[in-house]
Amino acid sequence: MTQTYLTLNNGEKMPQFGLGVYLVPDGEETVNACLNALKLGYRHIDTAHAYQNERGVGTALKQSGLKRSEVWITTKLWPTEYGEGQTLEAIDKMLDRLQTDYIDLLLLHQQVGDYIGAWKDMEKAVKLGKVKSIGISNFKENLDDLLNHATIKPAAIQVECHPYFPQHELKKRMAEYGTIIESWYPIGHGDPKLINEPVFTKLAQKYGKTNVQIILRWHIQEGNSVFPKTTNLEHMRDNFDIFDFELTADEMREIAKLDNGQRYYTASLTEQQRFTQWKPAD
Ligand SMILES: NC(=O)c1ccc[n+]([C@@H]2O[C@H](COP(=O)([O-])OP(=O)(O)OC[C@H]3O[C@@H](n4cnc5c(N)ncnc54)[C@H](OP(=O)(O)O)[C@@H]3O)[C@@H](O)[C@H]2O)c1
Repeated sequence: MTQTYLTLNNGEKMPQFGLGVYLVPDGEETVNACLNALKLGYRHIDTAHAYQNERGVGTALKQSGLKRSEVWITTKLWPTEYGEGQTLEAIDKMLDRLQTDYIDLLLLHQQVGDYIGAWKDMEKAVKLGKVKSIGISNFKENLDDLLNHATIKPAAIQVECHPYFPQHELKKRMAEYGTIIESWYPIGHGDPKLINEPVFTKLAQKYGKTNVQIILRWHIQEGNSVFPKTTNLEHMRDNFDIFDFELTADEMREIAKLDNGQRYYTASLTEQQRFTQWKPAD
């Protein structure tokens, strides 16, 4: 079985599985993590301006020898970059840092600040060929407002999503727009309680896989895009080795019973306002 792709609402085909690089320091660490992943066959990297490692991602892409069209790059704008005119400038700076002439998927990282102005510029960037697909992350209270103002409907929404919080309501809501769910904290940010749930241990024994591989396979079969973070080569290899088995419908239903509404991180809208005060360095 080979890796799977999701078709977005604009027809773009995105590798469903990738590498997340949140908290990976820029420079050698990000370059090595991305290069190792690309060598293993990963074709999707999820970064953000706020992670401060877009340069490392771009350098790895160059050093990999792969064609630009073979690798999917997602990155995210921070609220201090939102606003008509300002966001287009921010996108040009992103392209410089990523050392590329287009971004596959560009997201609004947070639902605060002038996200409507930013979205207008993102739509312009699509027309200019600087960005292929656009989407959002962490939108909740302001989701309807964004959707009402959007000419191009979001291709993806990136949110916390794992078996304790599978985002089924949001998924149903976004199906109307063909918007896919991208899972952050897909393995609960490494939480041993989630990873060691007995149902995963049982299925891991049945399929000759690890508990983490069972969780990642669950994301794939839920139709989510998933990009666990790791800099550990063994974890990286294991995480990608999930395309040679399939969980049954009964097993998916058993995992669904873990849904307990538990989130690892939530910022209220008021707390999110502080995001407009922090500026990532260029
Ligand atoms: N849009 C947003 O606001 C947002 C927020 C958070 C995250 N994200 C994105 O989602 C990605 C994933 O989220 P995350 O990195 O925070 O959490 P995660 O992928 O759920 O968990 C990462 C943790 O799990 C460990 N791990 C990875 N593979 C493992 C394995 N096979 N066995 C045991 N432990 C393993 C990693 O440690 P090792 O490095 O030691 O393997 C790391 O400590 C991020 O990198 C980022 O791209 C987006």
